[in-house]
Amino acid sequence: MDALVLHGGAGHKSELRDVMQKYAEEAFKNDALESVIQAVVFMEDNPLFNAGTGSNMRMDGSIQMDAAVMVPGDFGAVINIENVKNPVLVARDVMHHSPHLILAGDGAVKFARKMGYPEYNPATEKARERRDKVIQELRNGKIPSYYHPDFLMEFLGDTVGAVARIDEKFAAAVSTGGTSLTLRGRVGDSPIIGAGIYCGENGAVVATGIGEEIIRHMLSLAIYNRIGTAPLEEICREEIEKFGDVPVGVIAVSIEEECAVSNRNMPYAILRMEERNR
Ligand code: GLY
Repeated sequence: MDALVLHGGAGHKSELRDVMQKYAEEAFKNDALESVIQAVVFMEDNPLFNAGTGSNMRMDGSIQMDAAVMVPGDFGAVINIENVKNPVLVARDVMHHSPHLILAGDGAVKFARKMGYPEYNPATEKARERRDKVIQELRNGKIPSYYHPDFLMEFLGDTVGAVARIDEKFAAAVSTGGTSLTLRGRVGDSPIIGAGIYCGENGAVVATGIGEEIIRHMLSLAIYNRIGTAPLEEICREEIEKFGDVPVGVIAVSIEEECAVSNRNMPYAILRMEERNR
């Protein structure tokens, strides 16, 4: 049985399951990597998600995005890329058309232009309003501490991602505008292999939530390494419990299972398909 799982971000307030189910159906291709990339592109292009168009703004008003793709034995990522429409496509091109695994900052932008991606401003009025509100709350002293997870997640759910098992092959993709209230140059978990994303011969995992905590736990690799030792959903729940009240979520596929688990509202879609039905 093939499977494609999408998530729209832990802590996302909106109910987006219907639109995500549609994206899953449209993204489902014969190839696992192209399916997860297409699913993420759909979400990057929808300003309701915190990735691509509609990404969170840094406190200085800039938008820096992270994205990554992974298949067993290969990886590609962009970190703090700016002024492109679909960071996940650039991450794929880093994997396929560069000698590197990760490109960051102005180097990632230059590479994107070289690959033909035109200049594009992903800023939306809503993203600016969210950022202005954060700054106002900061000035008013309403933030109990810098690291207050629910405050960071209050303004927009975090990150989009997809994992797939198609024709017995696995793939994962992730894209994010980062959490609210971050400094320019901050890097979250999404482009960090083993933290926000992992994919190997036994499955694929993508995480969402407060990136700093997800990196500390190396969450995706922690789940991946336990695949086969217990039901997949149980493994994900146990690893998420270790985060206490910090907002976090994961989607995962293994050879026979697939699941979406979060300690916050997290819109997601799971599409299972017999090969003969495709
Ligand atoms: N989970 C995405 C981030 O923290 O940037």
